[in-house]
Amino acid sequence: MSRPKKAKAPEIKPLEVVKYGHPALRSKGKKVEKIDDSIRTLAEEMIVTMYEEDGCGLAAHQVGRSLQLAVIDVMPAFEDRPSRAWIDGRELEVESLMPLVMINPEIHPVGDEKLFETEGCLSMPGIYDEVERHARVRIVCQDIDGSLLDFEADGLLSRAAQHEVDHLHGILFIDHLPAEDRAAHQPILSKFQARSVGF
Ligand code: NI
Repeated sequence: MSRPKKAKAPEIKPLEVVKYGHPALRSKGKKVEKIDDSIRTLAEEMIVTMYEEDGCGLAAHQVGRSLQLAVIDVMPAFEDRPSRAWIDGRELEVESLMPLVMINPEIHPVGDEKLFETEGCLSMPGIYDEVERHARVRIVCQDIDGSLLDFEADGLLSRAAQHEVDHLHGILFIDHLPAEDRAAHQPILSKFQARSVGF
């Protein structure tokens, strides 16, 4: 008697990242009411997409899904742009949180310190600029199992979380720039916008 064959796990394929001008990027994401298989699969596909595109974060909006769901992994950039994280005031290994799936996340600034650092976005390739963000934040969200995750972060993790949570509310990093800096990026933005016509 032969042993029954083990069902092969389906291969997770990367998704297409939508570019500036796609309406999903300007929408407010719907709350995830139930973390079911379709949400878990979407989160896995988003993680694969983020790695494929060499990004450190990706919001559901960027794969055309307007939901309160984002993924982050700051480890590939850790040497150049480190982060720290704390739960209940105790520091923990950032790596133990990665890849991070944030479902229905909320962000609260911790302290008054703000920092300018360079950001880019997979939906606006080629555009980079200095964005002012809170240095340290508290992040409250559900993880992929539906458990509550409540932690504080600084460094790239803090910045990436603020960037991704902005996406979930239809906000892009260029919205934080002074008008003249945003205008300087307009030629590239207009090209993305022209390609997005018809969505
Ligand atoms: Ni982005």
